[in-house]
Amino acid sequence: MTTIEYLHASKYGNGVAVADELEHRMAAKGVTVDVHHIRDADPRHLPAADLYLFSAPGRFGRPIRRMRRFLEQLDLPAGTPYSVLTTEMAPRPDRKTGEVPDPVPGQKVLPVMNELLQAKGLRKVMDGTVHVTGLKGPLEDGWQSKVDGYADRLAELTPAA
Ligand SMILES: Cc1cc2nc3c(=O)[nH]c(=O)nc-3n(C[C@H](O)[C@H](O)[C@H](O)COP(=O)(O)O)c2cc1C
Repeated sequence: MTTIEYLHASKYGNGVAVADELEHRMAAKGVTVDVHHIRDADPRHLPAADLYLFSAPGRFGRPIRRMRRFLEQLDLPAGTPYSVLTTEMAPRPDRKTGEVPDPVPGQKVLPVMNELLQAKGLRKVMDGTVHVTGLKGPLEDGWQSKVDGYADRLAELTPAA
């Protein structure tokens, strides 16, 4: 049985909906996903799992502070596989050119998550982002299929127990 420990820092509930969708998609593949808000988890004593998935909302270009603190305190063996799934504001098209900036200037939510995790010696399996269309949500149209696609790839890449 493959187990994923899913640790999120959702404030407005969008990240909870993403976690639920991923949990159900993975359950259909025989993968158990245990979802916890990080306020209910101890970064120094996490349950055993085949992969740890960290999910954070963006704040001022970075992951929300509570997640940064959590990852700084994380105690997992070097080489432990992880993945990241952030919720971020959808980039707005440039007013003059109509083009969507990629990358978005000043937006470092995913890179900071990866930096903090790799500083602990963890091994990245994959990362991704689901967008919200307003500061507190809702999630973008089609977000379920985005999460399902993420889950499908993750199921292929997660080392079996
Ligand atoms: C004060 C504030 C600042 C924010 N700054 C960013 C940001 O810099 N980048 C970003 O992508 N999203 C930003 N957001 C939007 C969050 O990404 C959004 O609230 C979050 O994805 C919603 O997830 P949740 O419902 O799980 O909390 C900000 C939201 C608030 C309230």
